[in-house]
Formats: sequence, structure tokens, C-alpha cells
Amino acid sequence: MPVEGQHRRRALVVGGSTGLGRGVADAWADSGLDVLVLSRSAPTGPGADRLRWTATDLTDSDQVARGLAEAAAAPLHAVCYSAVHYGAGRALFRDCEETEWRRQIDVNLHGLWLTLSRTLPALRRADAPGVFLGISSEVVYNAGPGRSGYAASKAAGSVLLDSVAQEESAEAPGAEALRVVQALPAEMVDTPGIRRRRPEGFDYSAYMSPASFGPLARELAATSGAGLHGAHLVVDGTGAWHPVGEGLPRSQSRTVRSRAAS
Ligand SMILES: NC(=O)c1ccc[n+]([C@@H]2O[C@H](COP(=O)([O-])OP(=O)(O)OC[C@H]3O[C@@H](n4cnc5c(N)ncnc54)[C@H](OP(=O)(O)O)[C@@H]3O)[C@@H](O)[C@H]2O)c1
Repeated sequence: MPVEGQHRRRALVVGGSTGLGRGVADAWADSGLDVLVLSRSAPTGPGADRLRWTATDLTDSDQVARGLAEAAAAPLHAVCYSAVHYGAGRALFRDCEETEWRRQIDVNLHGLWLTLSRTLPALRRADAPGVFLGISSEVVYNAGPGRSGYAASKAAGSVLLDSVAQEESAEAPGAEALRVVQALPAEMVDTPGIRRRRPEGFDYSAYMSPASFGPLARELAATSGAGLHGAHLVVDGTGAWHPVGEGLPRSQSRTVRSRAAS
């Protein structure tokens, strides 16, 4: 928690209005950080009053520039990128629309590039090493039928984060000015983005909660990600985490029928 009279450390969550990003934003607010959320809709519900929000559509370059400039105007202690465009539904590559692909690239990849580009200088100015948390997915490792655009954009984002992490390590081996960490859920997570893709009456009881990302987010806020730079962490429903090499989440792929055949 901040000491009275001291400035609160600042954090940014891109895509923090709902889902996993919201879980991270709430946890960082619990840790005493001054959290700014960028998303199209405002955070709502319990705890939303602790979050600052600037309306930002990642497909609108003026809005993104404004939102990221606001975030990077002062040192940042922590940044999370969780925004995602899943797409309307699973579809075979031959049935995919170019407009959907471009939106996946804009939100899942280009938004991440812009956020890295605009916020890394502010993370370097933090009083302790700043930490950048990228929300990854099992699809990065498993790919799969019916989700080519989502898989490709998420995999590219993950490699982008790895490249930045490696550059940081090369510049200051063991003494990084900022740390880059990726985290992915061990199972499906019950989020608005997933609910939009499920039929009414679907049973979510086996799904994880976005709050499962709270313990890792609080750890990153407290330690600035010490010992976790460059890691890919799998977070389970209890909030525990392990490196991806010690147990990859199972693939969520399933057979998809061509729209033309249905
Ligand atoms: N849920 C799962 O089971 C699961 C599994 C593996 C990985 N993940 C990963 O977890 C992350 C979050 O997914 P989620 O399921 O939590 O999704 P979600 O509930 O749909 O949240 C997505 C966030 O992205 C924001 N967003 C989407 N389009 C945007 C745009 N054009 N401009 C600005 N913000 C935009 C949304 O805010 P607005 O709608 O307010 O704009 C929201 O804050 C993603 O990186 C995903 O790959 C999720």
C-alpha cells in the first residue's frame, strides 16, 4: 500500500473493462496502484469506482494515441495487455472474412505493439523496474482448426513480447530496467468475451474466474516481476502458477464444420 504523502504507483490495463484484464486491474487496485483502464466500455460492478477509465477503441488510431499518451505521461509501474477480438465464432480458414482477420490483427497484435512502443519508456522511468504483463493463450502453442486468425495473432503477439524481453536481457543481463512476463489460463475462463460465443444455458461451472489472475498480478506489483522476466506462466483456477514448460494447458480445439457444408 502507498505510504501517506507519497505518489501512488501507476498502472495501465489495456482491455481492463471485463474478463482477465479486469481481474488484473482489480488486483492492482487492491495493491494500491492508481490503475487506468483503456477499453471501449467503462468498467462496471464492484470495484469499478477504484479504476480510472479512458474510452479507447483500439481500431481508432486517434483514440489509441490519446489513451496511451495519457498513460505514459508519468512513470508506470505496471502495464497489462489483455484486449482481444476473438471473432464472431470458430470458422474454417476458407470461410474466414478478411475484415475479421484485420480486426484480430488490430486488436490482438497491433494494439499490443502500440502499447509496448508507447509505454516501455514510462516503465523504464519507474522507481523500481516496471513490469509488462501480456495475457497469452494455449492457442499460441496448440493452434487448431477453426481459430486460425485468433491463433496467428496471439502467437505473433507472444513472439513480439519474447523479442522485447530478450532485447532487455541483452542490454542489462540480470539487471533489467523493466520485466516482461506472459501469463495464460490453465483452463477456459468465464468472461464476457467467451460468453458471447456460447449458447444460452451453457454450463460455466468448470470454467475459471478472472479473479484467478489476482494472486499473480499482486505478486508482480509487489516484486516488479523479479525472477519472472521472460517467463510464460500458466495460471490455474486456484490462482497458483507454473512455467509453461512444466505443463501446457490442453488444447481447446474442436472439430469445425464448413459454413458452406452446413
Ligand atoms: N477467456 C478465456 O477462456 C481465455 C483463454 C485463453 C486466453 N485468454 C486471453 O485472455 C485475454 C482476455 O480475454 P477475455 O476472455 O477476458 O475477453 P473479454 O472478456 O472479451 O475482454 C476483452 C477486453 O478487451 C477489450 N476490447 C476488445 N475489443 C476492443 C477494442 N476494439 N478496443 C478496446 N478494447 C477492446 C474489451 O473491452 P470493451 O469491450 O469495453 O472494449 C475487454 O476489456 C485475451 O488476451 C485472450 O486471448 C482468454
